[in-house]
Amino acid sequence: MRTGTGTATAAPDQRAVLVAVELPGADIALDDDLTEALELTRAVGAELAATLVCRRNQVDPALFIGSGKTAELAELVTASCADLVIFNHPLSPSQERNLERILKCQVIDRIGLILDIFARRARSHEGKLQVELAQLKHLSTRLVRGWTHLERQKGGIGLRGPGESQLETDRRLIRVRIRLLEARLERSVNQRINSRRNRSETPTVALVGYTNSGKSTLFNALTESEVFAADLLFATLDSTLRRLELPDSEPVILVDTVGFVRRLPHALVAAFRSTLEEVRSASLLLHVVDSSRTDERQMMMAQVNGVLDDIGAGDIPQIEVMNKIDLTDHAPAHPAGNGGVERVWLSAHSGSGVDLLRSAVGQRFAASRMRKTLHLPRCDGQLRAGVFRLGQVRHEHFDADGAWQVEFDIGRGELARLAPLLAAAGTDTLPTSAITVEQ
Ligand code: GTP
Repeated sequence: MRTGTGTATAAPDQRAVLVAVELPGADIALDDDLTEALELTRAVGAELAATLVCRRNQVDPALFIGSGKTAELAELVTASCADLVIFNHPLSPSQERNLERILKCQVIDRIGLILDIFARRARSHEGKLQVELAQLKHLSTRLVRGWTHLERQKGGIGLRGPGESQLETDRRLIRVRIRLLEARLERSVNQRINSRRNRSETPTVALVGYTNSGKSTLFNALTESEVFAADLLFATLDSTLRRLELPDSEPVILVDTVGFVRRLPHALVAAFRSTLEEVRSASLLLHVVDSSRTDERQMMMAQVNGVLDDIGAGDIPQIEVMNKIDLTDHAPAHPAGNGGVERVWLSAHSGSGVDLLRSAVGQRFAASRMRKTLHLPRCDGQLRAGVFRLGQVRHEHFDADGAWQVEFDIGRGELARLAPLLAAAGTDTLPTSAITVEQ
């Protein structure tokens, strides 16, 4: 997808020079950083003409890599006939402009690159709205005096209001478009939530993980379906849902979601909130890890957990799925901890160990569900919403004097998430008979 406002940048036939800089305190080795950047470049469809790798103690405020390295980069751009330079770092708008002026070609940073990949991958209406919103929010931070992006794109005629500078016009147009997109997204999300109510009887399990860890492949292996799985970053942008049959338990809904990546722009995470809503409302997360990347997997898991915290899904129980064991010498295994199986070693590709995961998920659901009855002198709105969101309500009753009685099924993990709402509603000051558990 290309949007009219255009922060989407690289064209498939462009030749790119990739720039990676090692800075003190980097969270990843330069080689791995470069490998990931090469994958991102490939995902955007640009042809790699050359790479420039350097070390710096600090970022140069005007040119990021300093004037000497920029001169070297300019020579590299000319020698390799490149028409695009990709920085594997976030650049400030002025750095981007200064570099473009000196290099005489288009420069994009890591955030622009990720936005571009997202723009290419979004398939659903909602996914496209979210990408455009993220692009506009990114663009709005980069509109500065003397840089009239929209004017260059659209000619500006008939767009300008009375007495407005081009810059003001651009900002106003972006604000209007952002508001419009936000309203459309809200409508679309509401529709989805309504349709979710119809399947609220069935708990969901969400696949989460770093991009390219094998979520879609595992989704297909578990559900025997044919979701697009490709050796491309962010192949999955829109949530995909399927029913998953389990041994020892009722079926659940399995959700495949967008892959996470290091330094995911915050605006982007926010714009994808509604897709990630599927993750937030899940009862269990399968955290898929590419176990063959032994040096980076801890970092990748920490990044994914960081994003999960950001979107309010940090406290949902997880099973860690150490995927791609066919590339290592690890055998299929599912070591169990106190709360059941916490980690499964498997290969989604060959299928070995997938049955171990299916039974681990089944056991979690079989073991953790319980029926509860709550009887309160009055109904607490937030608690009621929480009960409906986290549990499956079987029966609800209000007395003439406002007392509220509700009977619901809930998993152990969800009950832990409900605990703060129960406490806030004052259930901890009630006699214990107010909350009864029937197994
Ligand atoms: P995003 O959409 O970027 O989040 O990717 P994803 O996590 O959904 O990964 P996907 O399933 O698309 O797989 C990425 C690549 O890894 C593909 O080339 C898969 O064939 C490959 N892959 C997935 N699972 C395995 C596995 O168990 N072993 C091997 N060798 N390759 C695998």
